Amino acid sequence: MRIGIPRESRPGETLVAATTVTAAQLAALGYDVVVESGAGVAADQTDAAFTDAGIRVTGADEVWASDIVIKVNAPSADEIWRLQQGATIISLMAPGRSPKLIEQLQAQRVTALAMDAVPRISRAQAMDVLSSMANVAGYRAVIEAAHEFGRQFTGQVTAAGKVPPARVFVVGAGVAGLAAIGAAGSMGAVVRAFDVRPEVAEQVASMGGEFVTVEMEQEVSADGYAKEMTAEQEAATAAMYDEEARNADIIITTALIPGRPAPQLITAETIAAMKTGSVIVDMAAANGGNVALTQADERVVTDNLVTILGYTDLASRLAAQTSQLYGTNVVNLFKLLTPAKDGQLVLDHDDVVQRGITVTQDGESLWPPPPVQVSAVPATAAPVERHVPEPKQPMDPRKKFFAAALGAVLFALAAAYAPPDFLGHFTVFALAIFVGYYVISNVAHALHTPLMAETNAISGIILVGGILQVGSDNLAVTTLALVAVLVASINIFGGFLVTARMLQMFRKD
Ligand code: NAI
Repeated sequence: MRIGIPRESRPGETLVAATTVTAAQLAALGYDVVVESGAGVAADQTDAAFTDAGIRVTGADEVWASDIVIKVNAPSADEIWRLQQGATIISLMAPGRSPKLIEQLQAQRVTALAMDAVPRISRAQAMDVLSSMANVAGYRAVIEAAHEFGRQFTGQVTAAGKVPPARVFVVGAGVAGLAAIGAAGSMGAVVRAFDVRPEVAEQVASMGGEFVTVEMEQEVSADGYAKEMTAEQEAATAAMYDEEARNADIIITTALIPGRPAPQLITAETIAAMKTGSVIVDMAAANGGNVALTQADERVVTDNLVTILGYTDLASRLAAQTSQLYGTNVVNLFKLLTPAKDGQLVLDHDDVVQRGITVTQDGESLWPPPPVQVSAVPATAAPVERHVPEPKQPMDPRKKFFAAALGAVLFALAAAYAPPDFLGHFTVFALAIFVGYYVISNVAHALHTPLMAETNAISGIILVGGILQVGSDNLAVTTLALVAVLVASINIFGGFLVTARMLQMFRKD
């Protein structure tokens, strides 16, 4: 089958649906790939580079007459009429908000696959273009903010005085929000972030941000997306937004509930109270905006000199990278759609990903698809009884005194009768327990995996030490060495088993 990659028709669009690399990957799946002349120039993909990669560059007519056409933006009405009946068109489509587009696709009797309808499940991550684009856009939002902001992000102590770090507040810690937190933090800003889903607090911390909490009931989401807030929750968060906004130099808003207009979170009064020179990047501008004064695709400067950026093309502002990521997502989809790697597209509706993205097939509307229930937390069949732990009784002070005295006597006896180097070893042992307890109990959850690797390394050392001591003449030493070998082995081999189970979770089959 022939795949055509046309030039994007949306004014100012810089992206292209395939780069030289991803076009060659599609060709390796058995397809004849053709690219419209000039389609990739704005994303640094010249016609010559496509030709060097073995991809044929041709005119628009041949591209649009292909069996499969892959685009970034939804096709216009004119473009749909250029498709052959029975052809397949693949692009972003926002099908939930585009009933007219679906009618036009039906009328032309084509099969339409929406790249932005890939369900957010682990298996489909490699095809999730919305995440790829939001990730790049979150980074770019910080760069745009830094460009507008009249100061540097990082704090410094210089001969000319002390420079405080910029304070960045990120609203919504999904894909774009987390990317913004990481980018702002890496530039030296102090980053705070809020999200209605309390379960993302750890992810915010792992990106170097501080999660802002609000005194309210927050629900853990069942599908990885937020739900709408109640009136009380809204009042509590409004007060928090006001306070955070007054302290912030930069605000980046990314709050979104799929299928709904963006919630308006930063009011005109709050903006009026912000510091002069502050910058707001409203990433939700295309869906109505999270900020009262946002205008889509515009730069607004308020009377108190707060700049509000409503750019909706942040991902396109890093055209080469976004095109590469989009193209790779498309290649991953084609690996699924081309099981025999023979250049023949096979659509399997029993597969939730393929069914989820199918908008029309041969002129028949298949939208909306059946819901895919993905769970961020295990669903509970019945209400779970809350277990309230018994309050801990403080230890009787007499018992405490008796335990301390017994410990001192035992230590004195050991010091008097044990071999001379025992005291040294014992001190190291006691200190190791003390330091180990405080170090490990303060390690963030996100760093537990590298911590496990460390403890495995220590277990390796213990194992070698134990094996060396097993042959000792002293029965007590032999017994302790055997116990050390056993415990260290459990840790090491258990680690292998846990790793194998984790890898299993990511395997497709
Ligand atoms: P996402 O769904 O991963 O994240 C949105 C986050 O907002 C979620 O974590 C959700 O819990 C949170 N949220 C929802 N309601 C909230 C509220 N009332 N208060 C605080 N948090 C709330 O979405 P993603 O992919 O990160 O995209 C974020 C936004 O960025 C979307 O509006 C998307 O359209 C936009 N976007 C904009 C681009 C641009 O060029 N301007 C490019 C790419 C994405």
